[in-house]
Amino acid sequence: MTPADSQHTRHTRTASINIDGDALRHNLSRVKAFAPESKVMAVIKADAYGHGVLQAAKYLSEADAFALAVTGEAMALRQAGMSKPLVVLQGFSDASELTAMAEHDIQPAIINPWQIDLLEQHKEKPVNIWLKVDTGMHRLGFPVAVVEAAHQRLSVCESVGEIRIMSHFANADDPDNIYNNNQLSSLIKVNNNINAEASMANSAGLIALPESRLQWVRPGIMLYGSSPLLNQSADDLALKPVMNFESSLISVQQLKKGDAIGYGSSWQCPEDMPVGVVAAGYADGYPRHAESGTPVWINNKHCALVGRVSMDSLSVDLRGIDAKPGDRVVLWGKELSVDVVARHAATIGYELLCSAGNTVKAV
Ligand SMILES: Cc1ncc(COP(=O)(O)O)c(C=O)c1O
Repeated sequence: MTPADSQHTRHTRTASINIDGDALRHNLSRVKAFAPESKVMAVIKADAYGHGVLQAAKYLSEADAFALAVTGEAMALRQAGMSKPLVVLQGFSDASELTAMAEHDIQPAIINPWQIDLLEQHKEKPVNIWLKVDTGMHRLGFPVAVVEAAHQRLSVCESVGEIRIMSHFANADDPDNIYNNNQLSSLIKVNNNINAEASMANSAGLIALPESRLQWVRPGIMLYGSSPLLNQSADDLALKPVMNFESSLISVQQLKKGDAIGYGSSWQCPEDMPVGVVAAGYADGYPRHAESGTPVWINNKHCALVGRVSMDSLSVDLRGIDAKPGDRVVLWGKELSVDVVARHAATIGYELLCSAGNTVKAV
């Protein structure tokens, strides 16, 4: 595969997104280096965190299975010819969805007792399932106290094939958090009697909590080159950014000391200075709450966002930067980590990737 084959650009507006397939493959190799004994369920929900699910699945062909949030996402992959195991983390919501899953060999997570009722009434091809255990996140799954009973019902149900179990960390981004060990030991304890293949670790868990790797790991964010840990950068973890979010400079103005920039006039020029306007705003998925000072990369230099982000544009301080309209601007990507931008916008890389990726799409 040539570098050109592994780069994809999606355009609707001036801002564009370019996906580096080789980086995606590299990041999967990092997962395998951290967890060589585990099978990998690559999490590609939400259009692969905004990266485009079909191409992501193609570059992640060395994964053992893929996880999606909802059945529609899994069906789209099956229809595109994907033959690998597909897991739907929210399971099914009614009998027709269950039938579709059985027909297309899609594995639901079982998160509610009424889903077991439906499986018991369902008389079609058996589905392989993932019994979701709530070990402390209190989002989805069966409380530890009732997991064995749920498993017992599932194990005698004719429409159930293989049973695996999974749980999800609430605090793995902070490996020292006591919650992590509590959650992991709950899962291991409940599995002592069930003895199923088990999965606990997301990206942060599989990197920083080795005992949580178990038989299956479920990485998402690290595949896309963003750090899952609070105290280590993507560079520290040798992860490569996959999404490059770019646009161009459309205006450069020489402003006077005291001139105010943009809506709310929230930032004033401290001296006479050049200010540029970049064709990217919150309509392109750039975070409106990014503060003045958020880095933006232009002509091999970091400059600073100034004033409020508008719908279609944002302004930058061009002092010390030789730049003109038409010049390329990187909002995040190889030259500027999405995690750095996220910190300046009081959010996480996940949200920015999903937001820009799911906004700037090919028509
Ligand atoms: C159930 C489940 N497993 C795994 C993941 C992947 O997590 P991460 O992207 O932090 O690796 C997610 C992501 O939200 C999830 O909801």
